[in-house]
Amino acid sequence: MSINREEAMELFLKYNETDALIQHGLQVEAVMMHFAQYFDEDVEKWGVVGLCHDLDYEKYPEEHCKKTREILEAEGWPEEYIRAIVSHGWGICSEEKPESLMERTLFAIDELTGIINAACLLRPSKSVLDLNLKSLNKKFKDKKFAAGCNRDIILQGIEMLEMDKNVVFEETIKGLQKRADICGLKGEL
Ligand SMILES: [Fe+2]
Ligand SMILES: [Fe+2]
Repeated sequence: MSINREEAMELFLKYNETDALIQHGLQVEAVMMHFAQYFDEDVEKWGVVGLCHDLDYEKYPEEHCKKTREILEAEGWPEEYIRAIVSHGWGICSEEKPESLMERTLFAIDELTGIINAACLLRPSKSVLDLNLKSLNKKFKDKKFAAGCNRDIILQGIEMLEMDKNVVFEETIKGLQKRADICGLKGEL
């Protein structure tokens, strides 16, 4: 069984009303879709997992991940999706460790997407379209910038992917560029 984007979106919007959280879901969706393509995996499945990864965060921040499991089980979502979503909180709000390629990718790019979003909002263009690897690396190294985005988790995720950090950074930027309009990062360009 698989979940299509339309039903995922309906559920996502049922639980999320805040612009920032909606944009974050759409951004992680965009990056997951791009990585699915990169790895030759199921684009819709990876997108749905990205879109709904923080499903419970707005309404149940204290029960993050746990509540999502409850909601998605009640909705009859396949365990593969639920596990992938819940394991993004590994070590923080979940005991399920990212294992599959989809899980490890989500773990690596979630917080990274947050840093990129913050970086874009500060640019004169407010856009991801003119963001490059060099400026992302600068923001990444500056621990005071978007301090809420945990660098250690990102690095741990990249290690689990056994990929080069710059490749992951570059592909994450590309994923957001491809869907800049949809995920609120087109800015003035
Ligand atoms: Fe989360
Ligand atoms: Fe997130």
